Amino acid sequence: MKVGRVTLSDRASAGRYEDLSGPEIERVFRHCWGGECRFIARLLPDDEAAIATALCALCDEDACDLVITTGGTGPSRRDVTPEATRAVISKELPGFGEAMRMGSFARVPTAILSRATAGVRGTTLLLNLPGNPKAIGECLPPLIPAIREALRHLRDDAASSAGPPGGGAP
Ligand code: MTE
Repeated sequence: MKVGRVTLSDRASAGRYEDLSGPEIERVFRHCWGGECRFIARLLPDDEAAIATALCALCDEDACDLVITTGGTGPSRRDVTPEATRAVISKELPGFGEAMRMGSFARVPTAILSRATAGVRGTTLLLNLPGNPKAIGECLPPLIPAIREALRHLRDDAASSAGPPGGGAP
């Protein structure tokens, strides 16, 4: 199992504060997943083209099974992670974002400010999470059964070579 974890933050990528969210993805995912995982870490500013390029590389060159992003899902001008994700996937899986917002809303009313989504590029599942490290522990664990099932479908596609190649640009 190869997992790309991508932190999107202008300030963390400029070294103005520590990236706590990327390591938190790794900690929470390892705890919930059970099996062996190898992580590839990236830290980028909130730049749509750069994010799209990094996501494509993790899918197409590094052959990640799963790519999880954190940050850049909110309403601010620089929040462009969902746009970059949609630019590179061939199929959107909106249920992941819906479940995160629904699951957190009662306890965290600001959860609905996240526009996080998910989708498929080739045989890779891409998933956005909000940037707050605490949100990762709240949002990721309930998604694990659906992540497992989606990866089963994508592996079946790969085995039968029935999956469409790649996603969209770039
Ligand atoms: N979801 C959970 N579970 N916990 C949170 O603290 N923060 C919200 C939301 N989702 C939050 C959450 C806030 S305040 C924002 S602005 C959005 O995620 C987007 O955050 P991002 O731009 O860092 O991705």
